[in-house]
Amino acid sequence: MKILDGKKLAEEIKSELRTEVLGLKEKGIVPGLAVVIVGENSASKIYVKNKKRACEEIGIYSQVFELEEKIFQDELLEVIGKLNADEKVHGILVQLPLPAHIEKEKIILAIDPKKDVDCFHPENIGKVFLGQEIFPPCTPAGILEILKRSEIEIVGKDVVIVGRSNIVGKPLALMMINLGATVTVCHSKTENLKEKCLGADILVSAVGYTGLITKDMIKQRAVVIDVGMNRDDEGKLTGDVDFLEVSQIASAITPVPGGVGPMTITMLLKNTIKSAKFYANRS
Ligand code: GUN
Repeated sequence: MKILDGKKLAEEIKSELRTEVLGLKEKGIVPGLAVVIVGENSASKIYVKNKKRACEEIGIYSQVFELEEKIFQDELLEVIGKLNADEKVHGILVQLPLPAHIEKEKIILAIDPKKDVDCFHPENIGKVFLGQEIFPPCTPAGILEILKRSEIEIVGKDVVIVGRSNIVGKPLALMMINLGATVTVCHSKTENLKEKCLGADILVSAVGYTGLITKDMIKQRAVVIDVGMNRDDEGKLTGDVDFLEVSQIASAITPVPGGVGPMTITMLLKNTIKSAKFYANRS
């Protein structure tokens, strides 16, 4: 059984990206990412801190905008408008969730698609549908990169994805289809989840429920990707997959922490650099 070490892969890729950023800086191009966070969600704060640190590690200029929970929607739209116009900013990321009084869809629509490094804008998600993505959505891209760098075939494989979110499950399903997999998407209303999972050559769980995936749901030698980021009763970070049990049956598995998470951030850096290069070629 192979542990798919996302942390190590992320370090490898970041090292490649650091070299790329150095080369760009020699040409006077400094990739820049703006991260907007609204309110006091503690998990979001940790994610944002990690994103900022990752930017610093590889030489991307980053700016974090910490906005008050009770900010008016129009004020937030104004911040986005300024970032759209800011030439130092090539990527804009609005950390979700947003407070209930703000219409998430309107905020996402306001982000210039050319700076939408999270791939949340409908225009960019539409490109994923067509297999023409410019900024591949970060978590699905991170998963595909783990599989690619671990030489795990996707073409012709039965892939089962548990979770149908707009950020992970749905875009990953599209990307896997575009790569030639046969994809089943399961979710909270799926009947006979165990039987569906047992058909998977590659099983991806992105639900957010500790212990959801147990060994009786895994085909012998399957590849298991755990996107869960949950806290157990003792506050320890856990995934959706019972790692100890499932690792006895799987041929390869991602741990939590140190699996998909570090790859997600790395793909955000990659998209930001890509956006800076596009910008340089346009101007
Ligand atoms: N909240 C949880 N995951 C994400 C993500 O990937 N991007 C943003 N912007 N917010 C999130």
